[in-house]
Amino acid sequence: MKQLSVITLIISLLCFSCAQREGELFLIRSGEPSELLEPGEDWSQEDGYLESKGEYSLSAGQCISSGAFQMSIKMELESPECFLAIMAGDNKFGFDGIWDEMPAGMVLEGPSFHKTHQLKMNPGEVIPVGRPFDILVKYENNLLEYSIDGKEIFSEEVVNEPFGRIRIEGWGEGKYIRVYDWSISGELVAPGEIYTRERLLARAQKSVDLRAEEVKNDPNRPIYHLQPPANWNNDPNGTLYYNGYYHMFYQHNPFSDRWNWMHWGHMRSKDLVTWEHLPIALWPSLEKGEEHCFSGSAIVNRKGEPMLFYTSIGHDAPEQWVAIPGDDELITWEKHPANPILHIDDHKGEVIEDWRDPQLIHEGDQTLMVIGGHPDDKGGSIMLYKALNDDLTEWDYLGTAFSGEEGNWECPNFFRIGDKWVVIYSPHGQVMYYTGNFDLDSYKFTPEQQGSVDYGSNYYAPNSMEDGKGRRLLWGWITDFKENQGWQSAITVPRNLTVSKDGWLIQEPVEELIDLRSEQVHMNTFTLKDETREIEVPGHEFELLAECSNLSAGSYGIRVNREQKGEVFEISVSENLIHFGEEEISLEPYGLGDDLSLRLFFDRTVVELYVNGGLLCATSVVYPDKENPAWELFAQGGELEVKSLDIWKMKSIYK
Ligand code: FRU
Repeated sequence: MKQLSVITLIISLLCFSCAQREGELFLIRSGEPSELLEPGEDWSQEDGYLESKGEYSLSAGQCISSGAFQMSIKMELESPECFLAIMAGDNKFGFDGIWDEMPAGMVLEGPSFHKTHQLKMNPGEVIPVGRPFDILVKYENNLLEYSIDGKEIFSEEVVNEPFGRIRIEGWGEGKYIRVYDWSISGELVAPGEIYTRERLLARAQKSVDLRAEEVKNDPNRPIYHLQPPANWNNDPNGTLYYNGYYHMFYQHNPFSDRWNWMHWGHMRSKDLVTWEHLPIALWPSLEKGEEHCFSGSAIVNRKGEPMLFYTSIGHDAPEQWVAIPGDDELITWEKHPANPILHIDDHKGEVIEDWRDPQLIHEGDQTLMVIGGHPDDKGGSIMLYKALNDDLTEWDYLGTAFSGEEGNWECPNFFRIGDKWVVIYSPHGQVMYYTGNFDLDSYKFTPEQQGSVDYGSNYYAPNSMEDGKGRRLLWGWITDFKENQGWQSAITVPRNLTVSKDGWLIQEPVEELIDLRSEQVHMNTFTLKDETREIEVPGHEFELLAECSNLSAGSYGIRVNREQKGEVFEISVSENLIHFGEEEISLEPYGLGDDLSLRLFFDRTVVELYVNGGLLCATSVVYPDKENPAWELFAQGGELEVKSLDIWKMKSIYK
């Protein structure tokens, strides 16, 4: 059966390319399977159709090149509880009746749009089950139309003319999905002919630029936290200091405010205070089978050349790829001809799972790289590699430097501060760190202290860099703002990392941020005794610093009214706990002493808290009541002395 499908695959591929002629209608399949990619376990081929009860993916192998086209599919579903995605010119149309990963209803998203179109219709109402139906996708005169059994369900002008892949994919979860006929008319070409760097970047940039116009005045968008001009970001990537500029790259979906189509967005700053958006730096090289440019990091190699390292997704297994600048300003980037520079089989017989997110350091005369994931018989680990050449394109696997308890680690950061080594990792939950020692002979890390990088529930996947002043700076991804706003996520303020005598990781906002302060409200010493005092804050973007002593109250802290009537967001200390919204942070291991300093960065919907000079940090997304936020300090069950309270209005980081 398998052999048969491979043979028919090759034959139909050949037939397909023969049959292709400009503007003419030809059949991708009818009764016979066409190119059948990743057929999954449960394929069967019965009289004249393909049936799957599991995962399947059918690809036309060729791409829509440009201009008008029509694609029609006759298919049948046993139940709407399945996942179906139909791709035409790289745009995906479908629904997700299983995973809840796509929004409810039918969804249309991709490079022809600048947002996810959520069709407010239930697939069960539009798609007949248990009998064949026809899906027609039509593009003409700038209009993209979708209809099912002749009934139009979507029609809209596109932002970018569709070009690119043609595919049907899905997941039947035990219920059959059948594909009977699949045909297309239009101009088709091989992927290598259509996918150029310029075209791919131009369509991504256009989508994000258009959406930027829509979101720029949203009063909930932070003004001094980094974000793309619009649409989705996740992890900060490849933070780099080069030629007088700090560069921030980040995981970016230019086509929607949801995760997908991972590109690398880019911005830069001379001083960490004002920032400038730059064109998208990295794009998936679709012609090379790359679907996503996942996370990674940057380094200037020993020849003085900046390089971006990242995980390339879309191949049989993840691969590690490199990009190099096309100009001195680092505005344009090219994929390195040596890619992939590391392959999953380069582990000397070890099997590594979830292998992604490279990060590099120079140590003495060696250049080392860590990559996240885990060996199949171990928990989350940092896999360690040593560069074999100055171009950093050849690497030797040194084994796992350290493994943890959690199932998997993403985005590892491994570096030295003074004589201590630090491991930061994202274990699909709260981001953690270890400090300890690293033996450069055995390449093994020995932990001494462990802590949480950030105790908030809206923080993940930080990335660090060494800057021109020898500082180790860390940025994290701020997650889970409201959905469907045209933008999603932000990046924390830069934190300067040091290690305390006790081995704690200290994270202080960089001193440059002082330049963002404007109007100041200052209050001298006052005492709160079983009382609540409203504090005047200068608008919705400020920094607050409260130096407190005489901490005898049973509970004390700061709170703000939330958008939901009657709810507050509270940061309070009681006994040996800090309550940060829903989170509880035990102070026991830290032994805070008699004084407490609370430094709060509030930026419309972002709260970043730094306790006692960055010994503890917590980040959250909060939507205060815009009309009546009522920020207040309180002390219950005793006294609190506030030695000083300063609040500064903060300026925007964009010129
Ligand atoms: C962490 C992560 C990384 C991956 C990237 C994909 O948030 O899952 O492991 O490279 O996001 O966007």
